[in-house]
Amino acid sequence: MQYSDEVMDHFMNPRNVGEIEDADATGLVGNAKCGDIMKVFLKIENGIIVDVKFKTFGCGAAIATSSMATEMIKGKTLDKALELTNKAVAEALGGLPPIKMHCSLLAEQAVKSALKEYYEKHGLINDDNRHLFDMLNEDANDHA
Ligand code: FES
Repeated sequence: MQYSDEVMDHFMNPRNVGEIEDADATGLVGNAKCGDIMKVFLKIENGIIVDVKFKTFGCGAAIATSSMATEMIKGKTLDKALELTNKAVAEALGGLPPIKMHCSLLAEQAVKSALKEYYEKHGLINDDNRHLFDMLNEDANDHA
C-alpha cells in the first residue's frame, strides 16, 4: 500500500489537533468496524468557521483526512463547509488507497455532525440543506 506525500505529511504533522473548550458545536463519530473515533470542534462567528480543532483516535489515514478536512473548512462559511465531501478531502491529499476511503468518510461525517448540531441549535436546517446531512446515517463501510 502506497500513501502520497501529502497523506504522510498530514499524518506526521497533523494540523488543528486539539480541543476548543468553548466550541459552538462538536461532532463525534465512529466507525463500528475499525473502531476508529473522531471528534471535531467548531468555533463559529457570523456564519464563518473561525476556528476548528479535531481529536482522532484512529488510523493514519483517519488522522491525515481529519487534518485536511479541518484545513479545508477553516475560514469558510457554514454553507461552504457543508459542501465538503470525503472525495474532495481524499483528492486534496493526492488520493487514498481504496481500502482507506472509509477513513475520509469518517472525516466528512465528523465535520457534518458538528455542523448539524449547530444548524439544529440555530434552526438553520431547511429543505435546501437537509439532504446534505443524510450521509450521517449511512454506514461508512458502504463507501469503502
Ligand atoms: Fe478506521 Fe481508517 S481504518 S478510519
